[in-house]
Amino acid sequence: MSLTLIVVIVPFLLSFLWNRVIYHRTKQYVDFPQIPPSRIWGHLSTLIHFMKTTKLNSHFDKAFKAVYDCLGSPPVFLLDLRPFSFPICVVCDHEIAEQISISSKLFQYSIPKSPFMRLVGDVTGPRSIILAEDKNWKRLRKLFNPGFSHSHVASLMPCILDKTELFLANLDHYARTGEDFSLDELCTNLTFDIMGAVTMDTDMDAQLGEQNQTQIVRLFRELRSTYNSNKGIWVLLPSYQRRRLARRVDFHIKQHIKAKFEEQQANPAKRSRSILSLSLADQNELTPEVLDETCDQLKTFLFAGHDTTSIMLQWAFYELSRNPRIFGLVRLELDEYFGPESTPIAIRDKILENRDHFLQNMLYTSAVIKETLRLYPPAATSRYSPPNTGFNVRLPSGQDLCLDGVVLYSCQTIIHQTSKVYGDRASEFIPERWLEGSETPIPPSAWRPFERGPRQCIGQDLANIEALVVIASAVRRYTWQKVGLGATKYDESGDPITKENGQYDVQSELYNSTDTGDNSAARGRNENACEDGGSLNHTMLVATLVEIYLIYARKKGCGVL
Ligand code: HEM
Ligand SMILES: *[C@@H]1O[C@H](CO)[C@@H](O)[C@H](O)[C@H]1NC(C)=O
Ligand SMILES: *[C@@H]1O[C@H](CO)[C@@H](O)[C@H](O)[C@H]1NC(C)=O
Ligand SMILES: *[C@@H]1O[C@H](CO)[C@@H](O)[C@H](O)[C@H]1NC(C)=O
Repeated sequence: MSLTLIVVIVPFLLSFLWNRVIYHRTKQYVDFPQIPPSRIWGHLSTLIHFMKTTKLNSHFDKAFKAVYDCLGSPPVFLLDLRPFSFPICVVCDHEIAEQISISSKLFQYSIPKSPFMRLVGDVTGPRSIILAEDKNWKRLRKLFNPGFSHSHVASLMPCILDKTELFLANLDHYARTGEDFSLDELCTNLTFDIMGAVTMDTDMDAQLGEQNQTQIVRLFRELRSTYNSNKGIWVLLPSYQRRRLARRVDFHIKQHIKAKFEEQQANPAKRSRSILSLSLADQNELTPEVLDETCDQLKTFLFAGHDTTSIMLQWAFYELSRNPRIFGLVRLELDEYFGPESTPIAIRDKILENRDHFLQNMLYTSAVIKETLRLYPPAATSRYSPPNTGFNVRLPSGQDLCLDGVVLYSCQTIIHQTSKVYGDRASEFIPERWLEGSETPIPPSAWRPFERGPRQCIGQDLANIEALVVIASAVRRYTWQKVGLGATKYDESGDPITKENGQYDVQSELYNSTDTGDNSAARGRNENACEDGGSLNHTMLVATLVEIYLIYARKKGCGVL
């Protein structure tokens, strides 16, 4: 009896399953541009093949770009990574990215975040504004918007300047001793300090050397390292270690919130200007719910605000170091503003004398920052419209495409470099394209490092102000050079070799990785203009805010095209 059952049912089941597989692999998403999928592996082996054509630990955007080129620049393409991950729709066209990020009839606050965001949740906690949706998100955003407004952030300039002074003191030290050093460490410590000061009115002391750093800094560093790409597939698993570390961060942050709350209750007139203080202003009682929620937001700000800004600074420093013409123009602008002064104190006074004037008039320096974020976007977004929602976008061909059930990844690396918008020199660093009177106007939706729409970055003004202050202070005082990966090439007489476009030629390409913390590969050198021989060890990393960890497999790439 049972044998007959097996003989009848098993083939039936197998054939049913096989048909499902065929349907899912070849019919379900047939409308999407894609490389013909393998019935067994989908696009997994394809992706691995393309990842192998790029540097091993480079950012997966590079592999996406290779697939995009191979497919002849489609507006979107599909990567079917089932059963390891959701199918991913890589969005390569700014008009489609825009349709995803704006509010629509179906989604008032734009398409919800993708299930991959769970990974971020391990650090930020489940109540984070980054993960929140609908009314709850709206409430949080309203609560924190005033703290991140341009005018409020500009009023926090003294905090930013204080922390920048420590950064300059560290640079001065290296300029004097002539040692190579890691710009990554210095920038990340700096931005962590700024985040601590601005959001929670506390000194993180990240820039005072390892011994003196606060516990929060150490725990965060450990937390970041749990996301390293060398963990491969394991990074996708719920991590006990990560949650344990996050709980320890909670403890310290909650202590701090309680202390600030009590201070504020005792003396309402002496409220600090931190974003934490603003958000607590209307609370009469610090309930456990408010405490939990506030703690998750502070973790979110620390997490979302320091790595991103640090990466931006590092790439800006690198581009300035290999583009003497651009460096000269930034200096010229600063000369006009600051006069001959270059001491940190003088720079500080001059900036504080008239902040708005400073923020509005560094047009060329702002263009450098904008161009840096174009070529090296440090973050991204991934969204998900659940199956059967009926979310359609209009493709450039006029055809409609339903995007339900696939993870939507706006690939800024591709969007920011399309020749349709940015011309033949799309991959070159040219700040002039952002200045008034440049030939071809750039549609606003084609530049989206902070994303756009209701869920765009709340901290973008803060990031911009930080960048302006730090770059202005450093360019005013030093010149520097990269050593190691991405270093300049020199001719026999020791002069840098310059390419046709005015850029120094480099020995090897500098690339992004998704690693955090392991920076043995890239080193840089800094030279102080006045005292020669100072150096920078300049490490590049890209830890994306909304990292999508693709799965690495050991199998050899096969079956491509
Ligand atoms: C160069 C620096 C930065 C870049 C490139 C950047 C980029 C982004 C992007 C692309 C998003 C959208 C994420 C998504 O749609 O899933 C975002 C959201 C966010 N960013 Fe930033 N960010 C930067 C700096 C900061 C800073 C300094 C803060 C300060 C705390 C911050 C806090 C946030 C928060 C809280 C959100 C979530 C907003 C919401 O969902 O309403 N970011 N950022
Ligand atoms: C920056 O942080 C790293 C790691 O957290 C630490 O080892 C280093 O000493 C810090 N640098 C400075 C100048 O404080
Ligand atoms: C940090 O710690 C070191 C060694 O523990 C100490 O020598 C140094 O003075 C401290 N730096 C600051 C700024 O407190
Ligand atoms: C680094 O990554 C960004 C996107 O994150 C990309 O635009 C850029 O071209 C990459 N740079 C290099 C040198 O690979």
